[in-house]
Amino acid sequence: MSPLSQSPPGIVQDAIEVAVVNGYRHIDCAHLYENEEAIGEGLHRVLKKGLVKREDLFIVSKLWNGSHEPHRVEAACRKSMKDLQQDYLDLYLMHSPMGSKFVEGELMPQKDGQMLVTDVDYVDTWKAMENLVDKGLVKSIGVANFNSCQLERLYAAARIKPDLFQAERHVYQIQCKLIALAKSKGMVFEGYSPLCSIQSPFLDHKLAPKNGMEDPVVKDIAKKHGKSPAQIMIRFNIQSGISTIPKSQTPAHIIENTKVFDFCLTDEEMKKLESLHYGARAVPWDLMGLGKHKHYPFNKNE
Ligand SMILES: NC(=O)c1ccc[n+]([C@@H]2O[C@H](COP(=O)([O-])OP(=O)(O)OC[C@H]3O[C@@H](n4cnc5c(N)ncnc54)[C@H](OP(=O)(O)O)[C@@H]3O)[C@@H](O)[C@H]2O)c1
Repeated sequence: MSPLSQSPPGIVQDAIEVAVVNGYRHIDCAHLYENEEAIGEGLHRVLKKGLVKREDLFIVSKLWNGSHEPHRVEAACRKSMKDLQQDYLDLYLMHSPMGSKFVEGELMPQKDGQMLVTDVDYVDTWKAMENLVDKGLVKSIGVANFNSCQLERLYAAARIKPDLFQAERHVYQIQCKLIALAKSKGMVFEGYSPLCSIQSPFLDHKLAPKNGMEDPVVKDIAKKHGKSPAQIMIRFNIQSGISTIPKSQTPAHIIENTKVFDFCLTDEEMKKLESLHYGARAVPWDLMGLGKHKHYPFNKNE
């Protein structure tokens, strides 16, 4: 498993079924998460049981850094489609603007603890992703983890404009500039890690993440509404006018996280939550020297 993997394959099939039965339709996957085959099994199962129709699902995957060279893009997409048992994807995202060396079977090839990177231009990668739309393999394309300059540059160069922009977004990383930019370009802004659950190994860094669900301000607002801290954090994203993708493999949490449409945070509560921002990131992108990558997006906090 890579440090950025998500739900382990063994339990993901059951989680898919619980999610679909409880109304989830958007399934956010990635080659990096090393569980697309298991998710494919889960999707096959819910479709076979008739629990949902394929056209009502929104299945997403992401192009990993190792396949940024344009001639690798289609094969990478087809591999995710095969693993997910799909003959098309609803959305395919470039997982980050940073290319890394392609080594068969290795997600994070490294030497002496440093990631082996390439300087492939993400605009060239994007052009290969546009071809996936032309060929009908994917219905839409987008990017994740770009900064505002990279997003502007990509948008200007794109023949097919990105439909969706995915970035970390929670009370400690409120992303005002990126949300405004994405909206001004007609892209959906989608916030990942809405609960800011801690994954980063860089806990001594001043921007190290705290667990949002343990924040006293979040807990206090949760108590007032008779909701859980997780529900407050999910509601915070939704009420900011963005899409959001909480992750859970625990049935009780999967169900709890749907119950966020029967209450509203007040303007004052939204402001209090926004004021918790200090630039923390839950996801450790600055891994194995990646912070020095030519296209590392997070040097400027935008
Ligand atoms: N594009 C990117 O680079 C990128 C990066 C990171 C994530 N993502 C996407 O965003 C999704 C969510 O991000 P994330 O997994 O980093 O963080 P998250 O959704 O903020 O947090 C997930 C964690 O919170 C726990 N949790 C979920 N609901 C809970 C509840 N109601 N009460 C208590 N704990 C709860 C989960 O445990 P249980 O499973 O036990 O419930 C899990 O440990 C990912 O699955 C992935 O699809 C994208």
